[in-house]
Amino acid sequence: MIKILSVVGARPNFMKIDPVLRALERDARGFALTLVHTGQHYDENMSRVFFHDLGLRPPDIDLGVGSGSHAEQTAAIMIGIEQVLIAHRPDLVLVVGDVNSTLATAITAAKLHVPVGHIEAGLRSFDRRMPEEINRIVTDALSAHLFTPSRDANENLRHEGIAAERIHLVGNVMIDTLRRCQELAARSPILDQLALQRSKYVVLTLHRPSNVDDPEVLAEILEALAEIQKLIPIVFPIHPRTTKQVHELGYQSRLADMPSLRLIPPCGYLDFVALQMNAKLILTDSGGIQEEATALGVPCLTLRESTERPITVTEGTNRIVGHNKGKILRAVREILEGQVFEGRIPELWDGYAAERIVAVLRDAYAA
Ligand code: UD1
Repeated sequence: MIKILSVVGARPNFMKIDPVLRALERDARGFALTLVHTGQHYDENMSRVFFHDLGLRPPDIDLGVGSGSHAEQTAAIMIGIEQVLIAHRPDLVLVVGDVNSTLATAITAAKLHVPVGHIEAGLRSFDRRMPEEINRIVTDALSAHLFTPSRDANENLRHEGIAAERIHLVGNVMIDTLRRCQELAARSPILDQLALQRSKYVVLTLHRPSNVDDPEVLAEILEALAEIQKLIPIVFPIHPRTTKQVHELGYQSRLADMPSLRLIPPCGYLDFVALQMNAKLILTDSGGIQEEATALGVPCLTLRESTERPITVTEGTNRIVGHNKGKILRAVREILEGQVFEGRIPELWDGYAAERIVAVLRDAYAA
């Protein structure tokens, strides 16, 4: 048996690991699987709901680290995961994405000489002020197997001097989950519950530190939203980080003054996919949502200055609009007036990325 220990911690990790664990479980050769949850995210609606919606196997170990500064959170995960790795001695550790749990696990495993497989390797925004960019660079440098979602990621890794034999273009595991769950999501009652009509609303997410931690940037985005909600209703599942910032900056009344902006708690997976599938337009600063919008063919405007997922712009439905009010409003009006960009589905975003990862692991670890 090949012992594989997988680590998740924050919301976007769950939908990425799920298809991989399913594919490993299906493999006849037999892998012994352990799932560790670091506890970086811990709220019912930031964590547990995803296990329920996806049918993700429950974690074998929960480190329960919770929130903190970057150093506090990363250090707490490293201390916890070191004990787990020493006790379990896996043949391989799998990490996904670019969150602090990914970085902390990669550093700790590499120093214990446990090979690391990084799923969603090679993405780069080329903006080192983003905490995720630091996490991506360090995790990739330390990984033995780098599973990439698109050719641009392979290029980035080659430029950083990573040996070609460590890099595997497998496609997008997040889209594996989207394809598996799309039918289920279509049955979600969320549109009825919120009295929303198909193609007649915008769905918004916002949580990047660069947008919500800076009072001026957040104020400008809110000004843009105040105009947009006069044109079309907005539904806004609000991230806990953003809720906290809105309160700390005293911006509650700015949100309350927008009658057609509907604030709701963070959604479960199926409800959020349903909201995306039926939206006229998606406004976001998330990474994964840019990809899901492309896979669903729904127009997406990204409220950031850069993206680590350029393929969603070159091939998909995504446009980068930053946080300038005028620019955001122009882009929204164009879409509402029917100027939508037809995208295409990127290569290997076909629902079988996890199968390709397992094929690589089988070759690498077969006795
Ligand atoms: C993290 C990831 C980010 C990802 C995002 C998705 C890093 C560096 N960032 O950002 O890449 O896009 O998750 O959500 O790993 N909080 C709660 N309940 C929770 C979790 C968080 O209230 O269950 C609050 C806490 O006040 C915490 C804040 O949200 O301080 C931020 O959480 P944290 O995990 O530090 O980063 P995110 O902004 O969620």
